[in-house]
Amino acid sequence: MSSHSTIDAAASLISPQVSSDQFTQSAPLKLGIMASGNGSNFEVVAQAIADRRLNAQIQVLIYNNPSAKAAARAANRGVEAVLLNHRDYKSRKDFDRQIVQRLRQYDVEWVIMAGWMRLVTQVLIDGFPDKIINIHPSLLPSFKGIQAVEQALASGVKITGCTVHLVCLEVDSGPILMQAAVPVLPDDTSETLHARIQVQEHRILPLAIALAAQKQSLAAV
Ligand code: GRF
Repeated sequence: MSSHSTIDAAASLISPQVSSDQFTQSAPLKLGIMASGNGSNFEVVAQAIADRRLNAQIQVLIYNNPSAKAAARAANRGVEAVLLNHRDYKSRKDFDRQIVQRLRQYDVEWVIMAGWMRLVTQVLIDGFPDKIINIHPSLLPSFKGIQAVEQALASGVKITGCTVHLVCLEVDSGPILMQAAVPVLPDDTSETLHARIQVQEHRILPLAIALAAQKQSLAAV
């Protein structure tokens, strides 16, 4: 048996196979990004825009944890960041109403949940029908919900990955836009596996945003 060290940890199967130069939309997509924590996915979307691999602009970052590193990343990039702390609202719906209002205030067209750790209500879904995108660290429909990486490790699967999908009310269940497969290595911990999954998240999220926009503009013709 060959050692796992011979596996190229960066290798991944991505589907569908698309490249940034095949997207031809003329007007920049107006994105609102929602993040609860580190914000590495916020960063890669911002970088894809800076590199002109994604024709978009980030109108605003909404974050719900005062200590979210995503806020500092937004400041570094000159992106406005708005703290909406869910603890300040009586209900999930009240919280989502405030989010919709803020996203509209910033003229957001597409909402990107990049590590948004809150359940959403119909209020948010109805605010941006078919225009909310989420990234999840598993090959959906496996391992929905929290601790997806831990769930994958505990189950013994040998391949997991990440999924970008449209958001519907049921958690981690909307139509799938793009997936990347990632091998589980014999001595993986949740940290090492999550780090390997994130490499692929960072590859597919900007592509999947462009793909979603292109699909909808083609469907509208
Ligand atoms: C990612 O693994 C994403 O799939 C999940 O939350 C994590 C966010 O990572 N929904 P980051 O904050 O973008 O670094």
